[in-house]
Amino acid sequence: MNPTQTAEWNALKDHFEETKALHLREFFALDPERVEKMTLEGAGWHLDLSKNRMTPETLELLGNLARVCRVPEAIRGMFAGEKINVTENRAVLHTALRNLSGGPVVLDGQDVMPGVKRVLGQMADFAGQVYSGKFQGYTGKRIKTVINIGIGGSDLGPQMVYEGLKFYARPELTVRFVSNIDANHLAEALKGLDAAETLFIIASKTFTTQETMTNAQSAKEWVLGQLGGDPKAVAHHFVALSTNLEAVAQFGIAPENVFEFWDWVGGRYSLTSAIGLPLVLGLGPDRFLELLGGFEAMDRHFLETPIEKNLPIQMALVGLWYNNFFEAQSVAILPYNQYLLRFPAYLQQGDMESNGKGVDKDGLPVDYQTGPIVWGEPGTGGQHAFYQLIHQGTKLIPCDFIGFVQSLNPKGDHQEKLLSNFLAQQKALAFGKGLEELQKEGCPVELIPYKLFEGNRPSTALVAPQLTPKSLGALIALYEHKIFTQGVLWNVYSFDQWGVELGKQLAKAVLSDLKQKTVSPDHDPSTAALLRYCHQHKG
Ligand code: F6P
Repeated sequence: MNPTQTAEWNALKDHFEETKALHLREFFALDPERVEKMTLEGAGWHLDLSKNRMTPETLELLGNLARVCRVPEAIRGMFAGEKINVTENRAVLHTALRNLSGGPVVLDGQDVMPGVKRVLGQMADFAGQVYSGKFQGYTGKRIKTVINIGIGGSDLGPQMVYEGLKFYARPELTVRFVSNIDANHLAEALKGLDAAETLFIIASKTFTTQETMTNAQSAKEWVLGQLGGDPKAVAHHFVALSTNLEAVAQFGIAPENVFEFWDWVGGRYSLTSAIGLPLVLGLGPDRFLELLGGFEAMDRHFLETPIEKNLPIQMALVGLWYNNFFEAQSVAILPYNQYLLRFPAYLQQGDMESNGKGVDKDGLPVDYQTGPIVWGEPGTGGQHAFYQLIHQGTKLIPCDFIGFVQSLNPKGDHQEKLLSNFLAQQKALAFGKGLEELQKEGCPVELIPYKLFEGNRPSTALVAPQLTPKSLGALIALYEHKIFTQGVLWNVYSFDQWGVELGKQLAKAVLSDLKQKTVSPDHDPSTAALLRYCHQHKG
């Protein structure tokens, strides 16, 4: 159903016209209970929506849209294993991967939970063997470094969480990540390593992805080159995470070193599947279970909480308000925690690959905006880089501020200073600095236009007491479900990604020209000219 054709959308349009000119200062002045009304709690997270350009009534009207778009029914359908990934004819059951205290999840007449628990057990056993030295390298040495080779969902999630929870990492292993087909990536990751002490995880749902397969092959050559060339060495230095067991066997990885997952786990939703093995190794099985516990808590909140109190749904609705009514183009993700360095990049895939769609569920081009551009960097670095544009530029950029009250590394007053910036930035964006204040400060008249802050720039605050595996798991699930809800509202299929295919196909044709130093006649003039440039400068 086209959401813009509903009475609920029209009600929102009228309401937008009535409220769009109001300043956040006015919204706060009009309703003394605004903060209380627009603050929610769930799965260990505190969500303050009050610095958004809307009223509690806006949220009610948006809630009506969620109801008419059947968001609660869609949530239940996903959790129940309906084949909602229609263009790939698949269920979407990443929530089963962390349903550890829940009941059976039946797909095509079979409970998937025994398989989920089996693979979790297999990962924990394997980690134990690596720590104890029972699983050793080909020459009998202990494994000291793990290199995850994967890309997209087989890289961004585990990499983000490994960085995010590095404080909790086990001392006996370090984990590195290689994704780019650019050989620089692998070369730098291998620097200083002894193949006899290195384990490669080849992470690929399909086990056909060009980048991963090429890096895996080169890693195999590196291992065999260092360890004397015996093909038996492969079993001691390579494990695979995949749904494609046949292709894994062809690569030469021993069946006992394969960690399976299933086609109902989408790549960008796979970090709680076997794709989490680098985390099980690097952080330990207990920490991984705590992470899953956080996911599970947010999953339950999402499934069981009414629209008005449901964190992912409310965040989805706020996002839609800016995207479709204010016509904001992007969303900034601003974690005030250095460990969450990779969180914005992770969300870029989660959001933009899911909802970057221009065709609705009936195959018709949409006549409204869908997924936003997602970007961001940790605070406070971003403050000294791009915040200028957010404060005084011409674009409206809704910001998600993510913060933790306590520091994992308390030192002097670092944390108070970090938190003061976290709070002050949201305050400055919302309320700005007016003429009167500048005059009181004695600001020279000619500088007043430059030093004015109009404010009225929206932000959402997400706060938890501490960055832990549990709070991070809940945070990731919160965004997963926000993305899902927006896909339902925009009536697009969020779990396919056909838009990445054309580039992959064309790269094959270009590759053959690059290898043979030819220029096929079917290239456009620009590609042909660039190919000729590459041939000339190949060296
Ligand atoms: O290129 C897009 C994509 O298919 C992503 O959706 C996926 O996460 C990534 O490639 C990697 O795929 P695979 O795990 O099959 O190697």
